[in-house]
Amino acid sequence: MIMKAIVCPKYGSPDVLQLQEVAKPAPQDDEVLIRIYAASINARDWRFLRAKPFFIRLMPGGLLRPKNPILGVDTAGRVEAVGSNVRQFKPGDEVFGYLPTATSRGTFAEYVCAKENLITLKPANLTFEQAAAVPLAAMTALQGLRDNGNIQPGQKVLINGASGGVGTFAVQIAKAFGAEVTAVCSTRNLDMVRSIGADHVIDYKVEDFTQNGQQYDLILAVNGYHPISDYLRALSPEGIYVVAGGSMVQLFQAALQRRRASKTGSQRKHVVSLVQNQNDLIFMKELLESGKVIPIIDGCYPLRKTPEAFWYFEKEHPKGKVVITMD
Ligand SMILES: NC(=O)c1ccc[n+]([C@@H]2O[C@H](COP(=O)([O-])OP(=O)(O)OC[C@H]3O[C@@H](n4cnc5c(N)ncnc54)[C@H](OP(=O)(O)O)[C@@H]3O)[C@@H](O)[C@H]2O)c1
Repeated sequence: MIMKAIVCPKYGSPDVLQLQEVAKPAPQDDEVLIRIYAASINARDWRFLRAKPFFIRLMPGGLLRPKNPILGVDTAGRVEAVGSNVRQFKPGDEVFGYLPTATSRGTFAEYVCAKENLITLKPANLTFEQAAAVPLAAMTALQGLRDNGNIQPGQKVLINGASGGVGTFAVQIAKAFGAEVTAVCSTRNLDMVRSIGADHVIDYKVEDFTQNGQQYDLILAVNGYHPISDYLRALSPEGIYVVAGGSMVQLFQAALQRRRASKTGSQRKHVVSLVQNQNDLIFMKELLESGKVIPIIDGCYPLRKTPEAFWYFEKEHPKGKVVITMD
C-alpha cells in the first residue's frame, strides 16, 4: 500500500522538498493509524529542513541528510485503524495531536501512525485545518505561560512576537488565565492581535518596550532579539522571564543565565522546552471548545504546494499558522 508524502531527501531550501509515493505505514499494537486531513508548519520543521542551527544534524536530525525524511509534527485527521492494545480510540474518531519525529514518521503525508497518548479527540467546533494549527504552538504557549511563567489572574504579561504561531496562542491563553496582556508585533499585525484580546499593543518598529519604563510580572519572549539585560529591566522585581524562541543568541543567553540570581530582586528566567503531554492537549481542546481560544490561520496550501508554503513561512512572517491540507 502506498501514500503521498512530502519527502525531504537532503537539507536545503524548500525547493528540495518533493511530493513522492511512499509506503503507507501500518500501526503497531499500541498505535493508531490516522488518515491525515491537515497538518501545519512550525519553526521546528523549517529548522529541520534547513538544518539550522547546525547541531540539529548531531541530535535528532541526521548528520548528512534527514534521518526522518518526512517532516511535520502537527496533525488532525480521522482514525482509520487501531492496534490491538489501543484503548482510547476507535476507527472513525476525529483526532489531533503533536507527533514528535522521534516517535512518529512525519505529518506532511496522507497517513501517519501515532501512539495513543500523543493524540486526543479533535475539538468538536474546529475544522481539521484549525485543529492542525494548534498542537505544538499552543502547547508551547501554555507550558511557557503556566508551567514556566506561573501565570496568575490580574498579572501584567508581555508577549514579544505576539503575531506568529506561538504568539497568537500565547495572547489568547494569557487572557484566558485572566492576565492583562501587552502584545508586541509589527505594524501590520497590531489590529489582529487586538482582535484576539490583547489589552495593549506595541509596534516593535516604532517603540522598544524595554526602554519605555513599563514593567511586567511575566514576559514571554517568542521572537525577536533583545539582550537579557533589557528584558530584566522591563521585568518587575519578582517577575519571571520565559524564552520560547527567537534568535539563538537569546536562547543561549537565557539558558546560561537561568540559575544566576538577578541583581534587582528575585527575578527568574526559564527556557521553554516543549514536552509532549496528552493532558495539555486535552486542556487546549477544552479552551478551544469554550471559544476562549481560536486558531489564527494565515493560509492553507495543498500537500503538493508544501514547498511554496515553506517559502511563505520563511520569508513572510506569517500571521498565526500556515496549514497544509491533503488533496
Ligand atoms: N522552546 C520550544 O519548545 C519552542 C516551541 C515552539 C517554537 N519555538 C520557537 O519559537 C519561535 C517562534 O515560533 P513561531 O511558531 O511563533 O514562529 P513564527 O510563526 O514564525 O513567528 C513569527 C512571528 O514573530 C514575529 N517577529 C519577528 N521579528 C520580531 C521582532 N523583532 N520582535 C517581535 N516579534 C517579531 C513576527 O511578527 P511580525 O510579522 O509582526 O513582525 C511573526 O508574526 C521560533 O524561534 C521557534 O523555534 C520554541
